[in-house]
Amino acid sequence: MTLNLIDTHCHLDANAFQQDLTDVLQRAIEIGITRILSIGVSRSSSEAVLQLAAQHPIIAPVVGIHPNYALEAAPDDWDLIREMAQLPAVVAVGETGLDRYWKDVPIDIQQDFFRRHIALAREISKPFIVHCRDAEDDVIALLQEESGGGTSAGVMHSFCGSRRTAELCLEMGLHISFSGMLTYRRNDELRATAATVPLNRLLVETDAPYLAPQPQRGKRNEPAFTAMTNEVLAEIHGISAAEMAEQTTRNARELFLLS
Ligand code: NI
Repeated sequence: MTLNLIDTHCHLDANAFQQDLTDVLQRAIEIGITRILSIGVSRSSSEAVLQLAAQHPIIAPVVGIHPNYALEAAPDDWDLIREMAQLPAVVAVGETGLDRYWKDVPIDIQQDFFRRHIALAREISKPFIVHCRDAEDDVIALLQEESGGGTSAGVMHSFCGSRRTAELCLEMGLHISFSGMLTYRRNDELRATAATVPLNRLLVETDAPYLAPQPQRGKRNEPAFTAMTNEVLAEIHGISAAEMAEQTTRNARELFLLS
């Protein structure tokens, strides 16, 4: 059965896809993926993502500087990200956020870049995509500060936080995107949290080439595997995989204004 699905987060410019991207995209199309958001993590990665999108219409590009790459960004990299973000093809800004797992980039530099991405996204009326690793409280605090009690168009990507964090993100108007982590055996708590997210705020993603879902765990991930996460999310919400695919695809199309 083919589903109507959108992978809202992956990294197709990664070396892991250099040899066989055409096959990877073909497999995605065969299972019913209609769009794939490929996310930049640096200036050069954002440029690469734009190039890929120009070659493959299924790819929707997102540009930004990942918190783990914020220290190595050259002074004019941000100006170029700003320019790229305004291109009509670009559907969102990111990925941005905070990461306390890798200790290489001082948190104040990460916070500075996080704020810049949020401001840029607002300025150009596109959503932003948030990476959060071992930094839930800091991410929430910064988002709350920046939202000033209002709501924002954005995504908590590859969500693995607490139920409370999910609630606070939803209050701020954010969407919550689940990756292959939702399928891992030990992640009962994450599945319980996913059950509390309203259907109209759910998104699915792979974060490929990382985080392959359970049956493929440890191998290279690819957009076609979005179907596995979608299936688990459907089970959690007590609807069919086709219904969940329709729902998450509608959510993605509305949020990212995809054609
Ligand atoms: Ni990512």
